Amino acid sequence: MSAALLEVRGLSRRFAGLLAVDEVSFEVRRGELVGLIGPNGAGKTTLFNVIAGQMPPSAGEVRFAGERIDGREAGEIARRGISRTYQNLRVFPDISVFDNVSAGAAGRHGVSLWRALLPGLDRARSAAIAAATVGALERFGLTAQADALAGNLAYGQKKMLEIARAMALGPSLLLLDEPAAGLNTAETLALADLVRALCREGLTIVLVEHDMPMVMRICDRIVVLDSGRLIADGAPPAVRADPAVRAAYLGDAA
Ligand SMILES: Nc1ncnc2c1ncn2[C@@H]1O[C@H](COP(=O)(O)OP(=O)(O)OP(=O)(O)O)[C@@H](O)[C@H]1O
Ligand SMILES: [Mg+2]
Repeated sequence: MSAALLEVRGLSRRFAGLLAVDEVSFEVRRGELVGLIGPNGAGKTTLFNVIAGQMPPSAGEVRFAGERIDGREAGEIARRGISRTYQNLRVFPDISVFDNVSAGAAGRHGVSLWRALLPGLDRARSAAIAAATVGALERFGLTAQADALAGNLAYGQKKMLEIARAMALGPSLLLLDEPAAGLNTAETLALADLVRALCREGLTIVLVEHDMPMVMRICDRIVVLDSGRLIADGAPPAVRADPAVRAAYLGDAA
């Protein structure tokens, strides 16, 4: 079997007249931390949406652990081990921090959030969901806020909650969509350390991020999209020096 955990082959996604993702191919190997960068509207979030099953591709293939997953339903893809966060936070503001993270842990067991919050779930599954939730809260520094309403958290904590919920699913591949956006310098540094630590522990990560110093510092490899097309794929120093990448960021013709 190939060492690639995620294989994207000729992937396209069209919205009416717009090719948001245009025949993109790349691989992510097990244990890698890959940065996915590109100017606004480059297609980064759309690529995540297709990989995670929020929308089907218009063409192309996605393989995860050697099996085709393109076009499969989001819940099934999550249960296979791909977890994601959202650029626009998807925290449930009116339930507790604990229950928000439980929603992720429940997904791992094929249980919907609302089913998980109702009484009567069998004891083994409830215990497993609670244990995963407690572990994720601890890891992301949210134990003291477990009973608070998620809507009352500070912005940086809501971003951590989003990652904690994704991690409670027990993924082997984590897709992070702009986790540092809106964080202050100290929070960004802490996040970078956390992402690196998760990777060292064996998690494979794709990181969409506009914070270039962070991406260049922590990623093993960087994939660059521009207007839906992949324009570079390589080690951070090579990507930083690439004329096509520089042109894309300056808005010139490549
Ligand atoms: N559901 C949709 N329907 C129609 N067009 C869409 C949809 N989602 C994205 N687009 C368009 O596809 C293109 C790529 O958008 P996408 O959100 O993937 O970019 P991005 O690289 O994530 O940008 P940003 O850095 O601003 O988050 C944009 O032109 C966007 O307007
Ligand atoms: Mg985006």
